[in-house]
Amino acid sequence: AKQDFLAKLAPLTKEAEILNLKSEFVGKTGVVSEMLKSLKDMNPEERKTFGPRANELKDFINDQCNLQLSKIEVEEINKKLAEDRIDISLTDNIQVKTTKGGGFHPRTIIQQEIEDIFLSMGFDVLDGPHIEDEFHNFEALNIPADHPARDMQDTFWFHDPHTTPADTKKYLLRTHTSNIQVRGMLSRKPPFRFIAPGVVFRSERTDASHEMVFTQLEGMMVGKDISVANLIYFMKTILKEIFKKDVEVRLRPGFFPFVEPGFELDIRCLICSGAGCSVCKQIGWVELLPCGMIHPNVLKAGGIDPNEYNGFAFGLGLDRLVMMRYGIDDIRHLQSGDLRFNSQFKLF
Ligand code: PHE
Repeated sequence: AKQDFLAKLAPLTKEAEILNLKSEFVGKTGVVSEMLKSLKDMNPEERKTFGPRANELKDFINDQCNLQLSKIEVEEINKKLAEDRIDISLTDNIQVKTTKGGGFHPRTIIQQEIEDIFLSMGFDVLDGPHIEDEFHNFEALNIPADHPARDMQDTFWFHDPHTTPADTKKYLLRTHTSNIQVRGMLSRKPPFRFIAPGVVFRSERTDASHEMVFTQLEGMMVGKDISVANLIYFMKTILKEIFKKDVEVRLRPGFFPFVEPGFELDIRCLICSGAGCSVCKQIGWVELLPCGMIHPNVLKAGGIDPNEYNGFAFGLGLDRLVMMRYGIDDIRHLQSGDLRFNSQFKLF
């Protein structure tokens, strides 16, 4: 029976065939099982010699079948692995189609970078509406209707602001992202710090350093006992992070109705290193960062008690920063939508 089994097993290569053979020999009605059953009709002597041999045969058959089954399993796995292998080499006769990789607008790159810097310093990043009412763009910022400071920001007004007869507000395209600061103050309790990046609109004559649509990144920090020293520290740290080196700065007094005292922070022009160019209007310094301590009236309009809290605010001209960083000599490129310009800026 053993020779018979081995002869039958040898040519089998499929799992099912082996299982069938196994049951033919050691299954319930298999040859070997019948042998074991017949033991009971034998005399004790015969049983003694025949019994162990039959059991041995049974074990042998089981072992052989299992061995064969596991061999088949390994073969199948190897076959699968070989089939699944991907040939990543390219033969010479395959033509590869290349597409031009997209780029980011340089403003997007710089904005994201600066947001990351501020986030790491505990600032939130807020957004707000482009179409704004007079209160959030001017009045809450200590610029009432007859204030001459309104002339500093030539404004696009909406001629018919009334969406309903009950709505008597005057609407405009925001002239700075300070509107987000007002909304930010009104919606949180001090202490807080956040930045407000976004496009702003001014009815200006355009030239190499002026556009009607440009980008600001304003921010504020409100808390207890905040000083001008805190303001200067934050501004210097941020400029150093942005330019990846110490930049030469100068602080001049500046007037903005929403800060007191107010400053103009200039940086040494990185395009001409101070020799004079169109971006720095030949003076070697670029006005980059107006800032100051938030005026008590502005805190009040934002629902904050100026006797208890104070803080600083700043406004970064994002486009100027982009121009400094990439050596762009005309702000109008940024708004041109010209892909030849845009595609030069890659993240990697
Ligand atoms: N909102 C000012 C502007 O657009 C910038 C500014 C912000 C100045 C904060 C001082 C403090 O001109």
